[in-house]
Formats: sequence, C-alpha cells, structure tokens
Amino acid sequence: MKVLVIGGGAREHALCRSLSLDPDVTALHCAPGNAGIAEVAELHPVDQLDGAAVAELATGIGAELVVVGPEAPLVAGVADAVRRAGIPCFGPSKEAAQLEGSKAFAKDVMAAAGVPTARSYVCTTAAEIDEALDAFGAPYVVKDDGLAAGKGVVVTGDLAAAREHALACGRVVIEEFLDGPEVSLFAITDGETVLPLQPAQDFKRALDDDEGPNTGGMGAYSPLPWADPKLVDEVMASVLQPTVDELRRRGTPFSGLLYAGLAITSRGVRVIEFNARFGDPETQVVLARLKTPLSRVLLHAAKGTLDAEPPLNWRDDAAVTVVVASHNYPDTPRTGDPIEGLDAVAAEDAPHAYVLHAGTKRDGDAVVSAGGRVLSVTATGKDLVEARERAYRAVGRIRLDGSQHRTDIARKAAKA
Ligand code: AMP
Ligand code: GLY
Repeated sequence: MKVLVIGGGAREHALCRSLSLDPDVTALHCAPGNAGIAEVAELHPVDQLDGAAVAELATGIGAELVVVGPEAPLVAGVADAVRRAGIPCFGPSKEAAQLEGSKAFAKDVMAAAGVPTARSYVCTTAAEIDEALDAFGAPYVVKDDGLAAGKGVVVTGDLAAAREHALACGRVVIEEFLDGPEVSLFAITDGETVLPLQPAQDFKRALDDDEGPNTGGMGAYSPLPWADPKLVDEVMASVLQPTVDELRRRGTPFSGLLYAGLAITSRGVRVIEFNARFGDPETQVVLARLKTPLSRVLLHAAKGTLDAEPPLNWRDDAAVTVVVASHNYPDTPRTGDPIEGLDAVAAEDAPHAYVLHAGTKRDGDAVVSAGGRVLSVTATGKDLVEARERAYRAVGRIRLDGSQHRTDIARKAAKA
C-alpha cells in the first residue's frame, strides 16, 4: 500500500515511523514533513491546508491511503478534497472536524448525545461573560471557541485575567472547573464502528509540577497504572460510541481519530474536550505500544469497513515521551538553533529510545529548530521506571541552545 501522511510534527513522525515498519506499506510519502520524517518517507513541499494541492499530490504519487495528521487541514476540508479525488482518507470531513474546530459545536453534540461534560455557557457579550464567570465562580475556565493550538484556554483564580481573556476571544465558552486527573483516550472509527486505543496522560503545562502556561503538550506516558481497568469500556459506552452515533445521526459521520480529553472527577468521567485527530505527544507513546500493523486499521476506517478489524494488539511495555521545546516556548519561540546529539541517541539508545522530530529542518549539514516544540524523545521499557530512565538518558544527549523540557514526565505514575 502506498501511503501519504499530511503534516510535519512529532505526531506525524510517530505515524510515519509506525507505517515505515509496517509490512503492508510499500511506499511512504509525507507533506510537508520535517527533517526527521525525511529519514523514513519521501517529502513533498505541499501546502497542507490546500485541499486541491494535497489531492493532486495524492493522485500523482498513486496514494492508496492518505492520513491527515493535524487539525488545521481537517478543519479546512482537506480530507473531503482527497475523498472527492476517489482516494481513501483517514481523517474526518470538514463538518465532522467541527467537533474540534468549535468548542460550542462540541458542547451541542455532547448535550444531544448525553455525554458527560462540564456545564458551560457560550458568550459573545461582556454582560454574558460577567454573568457566566459569576455563576461558576473561581477557578475560572475560559475557552476561545475556535482553534488555538492548545493556547486558547485559560484556567485561573484571577477574575480580572479570566475576564480579559474572555473579552479578547470574541465568542467564548465559559465552563465549570473540573477537578481530577486528566486522561487522553483515542478511538479509531469509520463513523459507525469504534475501536479504542490505550489511554495515555499528557502534561499540558510548560513547567514541572504543572506550573506555567498551557502548551500543546510537554510529554506523555502510557499505560496508566493508577487508572481503573474498566476505564476504556466505560468511556466507550458513555462518550465515544454515543458521540460517533450522534454525528452519524446528524448526517455528518465522523471517520478518523476521535480524541477524548477526559477529567476523572470525584463524580465520574467528564469530557474536557474533543479533538478530531491523534494527540501530540500522546500518539508517540500509544503507537510505541501498538503491535497491530497500523496501515490496515487506518485503511479500514477510511473505507468504512472497521467492523472487519479484530481488537488491537498491544505490547506489555510502558512508553514515555519527553518534549524538548525551544527557548521562550510557548510565547515567542526562538528558531534556527542547531540541534546536536541526534546521532548519539541513534547510536547509544536505539531501539528503546528514539527521537521524533517536530519543529526541525535541515540547514546544510545541520538540523536546526524550526518551531516551538522541537522534538520529542520516546522510550519504551518493561515499566514506566525503565521507560523514563531511557527517555531522560536520551534527552540528556540532545544539545539545543536555550531549550527546555519537563523533568517530571510520568514521575508520579512510575512510583504508583
Ligand atoms: P482544552 O484545550 O479544552 O483541552 O484545555 C486545555 C487544558 O485546560 C486542559 O487540558 C485542562 O488542563 C484545562 N482545562 C480545560 N477545561 C477545563 C475544566 N473545565 N476544568 C479544569 N481544567 C480545564
Ligand atoms: N496533547 C494535546 C493535543 O494533542 O491537543
């Protein structure tokens, strides 16, 4: 099977890595990709938001499956353009991707499907904002309605800061604060059949001990030794299947990856958010543990034949990923700094630890930073303790001026 992956982050590198190891994959292409993906796939300098250009590329290279990684092309309708060209595509339509593209739409779907989530108000005026903030009280949760790369959400005890963010958003969702640990659970679906993956936990804040601003995610691990073994079944029944059923009922079936961001509260599981694509960095740890070859599952989802797929197989290994971000991420990340130590990781730490590139590019012989999250080091081990040790040993070999990473990824869970 010839596969084209759209995107160029660490999530796409993880997808390409798994696909490159998949015996069913005969050729692997990626657009636009990055310096690391170039080692496993042929890159094409195509604008990932341009559906016509992506469809033309897919047709030109004879792709038999296109996998759209990030939310922006999905929300722009790139998957629809590929399907119109007659090529199976893994990723939801523009309409179904509104589940991620609009927090207000997601709330409406959840209400209709009876999916448990935080109580919320959608506000557009200062008066509505003040009323909602007053109704819920501190801590305040204020969410920009549209896509904001993980940075549209402010959770704060400071009323003035909450108000300021809300007023800057235009259309804003203000909701009840949810207490309790967060879990990311992904499911692959063809719009009807739903196949859950293994849960992972992401670290959203920039600094150790969950301090600092929200980011796109600074690290992740899987499995979750502290979680109830029935969690996946429970979320399947209360969240994933009802949401997929509701979108099908509306005539906008969701096919692709449904990502449920969950809070495990004292009153039960609540959805914090949905995403319409694989999460980054959770994908790095989930795919590190997946034994089933990925291409067949993604193709079944794209073609609407997922009911033919047996349950997925998983390794017993644990996996940990640590994101290395550039100087000043998430505010105004500095780019163009040389990255050293990549060869040392490949020589000393493979196959248990490896680097997945995010914002990187080639500059002559050097690999330089080209984004906020620069790379993520992923490692597996017999348990989280070993996976952590291996991940941090490899992180220690990476040299990037001014870079930052969290030192506490999976630390608490490894002790559990
Ligand atoms: P989101 O973009 O909706 O995932 O929000 C980003 C982060 O903000 C989440 O991962 C949570 O850590 C936090 N957050 C969002 N909604 C809530 C909520 N209702 N209660 C508590 N924390 C929240
Ligand atoms: N890890 C958070 C996200 O992918 O949105």
